[in-house]
Amino acid sequence: MQYFYGKTVLVTGASSGIGIAFSHELASYGASLVLTARRKDRLDALAKEIRARFECEVTVLPCDLSEPGGPETLVRAIQEQEVAVDILINNAGFGFNGSFLEGSPEMYQKMMQVNMGALVMLTRLLLPDMVRRGSGGILNVSSMAGFLPIPYFAAYSATKEFVINISWSLWKELQGTGVHVSALCPGPVDTEFMEVAGVDRKKAAFRGLQSPESVAIRGLRGLADNSPLKLSRTLLRIPYLLSKWVPVRLGLLIGGLAMKK
Ligand SMILES: NC(=O)c1ccc[n+]([C@@H]2O[C@H](COP(=O)([O-])OP(=O)(O)OC[C@H]3O[C@@H](n4cnc5c(N)ncnc54)[C@H](OP(=O)(O)O)[C@@H]3O)[C@@H](O)[C@H]2O)c1
Repeated sequence: MQYFYGKTVLVTGASSGIGIAFSHELASYGASLVLTARRKDRLDALAKEIRARFECEVTVLPCDLSEPGGPETLVRAIQEQEVAVDILINNAGFGFNGSFLEGSPEMYQKMMQVNMGALVMLTRLLLPDMVRRGSGGILNVSSMAGFLPIPYFAAYSATKEFVINISWSLWKELQGTGVHVSALCPGPVDTEFMEVAGVDRKKAAFRGLQSPESVAIRGLRGLADNSPLKLSRTLLRIPYLLSKWVPVRLGLLIGGLAMKK
């Protein structure tokens, strides 16, 4: 995709799943990369592999985005390397499947910080330079879980609705600035997300998992086209449209049945 050629892209959550797939795709389009996540060993291994395959520039900057001040520390480290970020991919995130009270207060704090707080802060810190340059892009990874409230996935689905809403608003606000904004909404994807969230892969709602590669390509296409909302597969249009029309109580019933353990 020509849009990414010669650009420097910051990918959060690059140590696993969709983040790894974004990184490979972007390198194949001729982008330079700044990779971040907590697991440095994984980022180093990915950087080595990508440099060998594509001869592109890759900077590794580990960061815990759940820590207060994490995004600010990351942006300072990027500035110290004298790297200008053209495109930000807010991909890091995690979920929790279970009754609300089974989740610890600390876990919810971290989830809100990684899924929402860090996304807002990184965007706020990196956007001014994009606007000044008259070009740039913000790709926010949301989820189809953000279409409706989902019992037993309550906090996660709420954080992903936040991501959809803020992406729509920024897309509108930034029209005419040259900065693209897109929210990617994947359905279930074959990554470590399931194990981290405690989701049972055998559940009907999690059959037919998409590959992280196909999801990453759709997301990057969405950003290149400046689509405010990109579904990871065409079939997701059905639940998306239904979520706009079914009464919330019916949605809660279906969502609850899908996610109850
Ligand atoms: N898989 C799905 O079914 C699915 C569906 C819809 C949306 N999504 C969304 O897609 C995005 C990517 O998830 P994935 O499926 O690729 O899951 P994954 O394989 O578990 O990857 C999650 C990434 O987020 C990073 N991360 C988690 N906590 C972090 C923290 N405190 N600080 C910094 N980085 C952190 C992880 O890195 P470290 O652990 O190394 O820090 C990892 O690189 C997430 O936003 C997720 O909500 C996934």
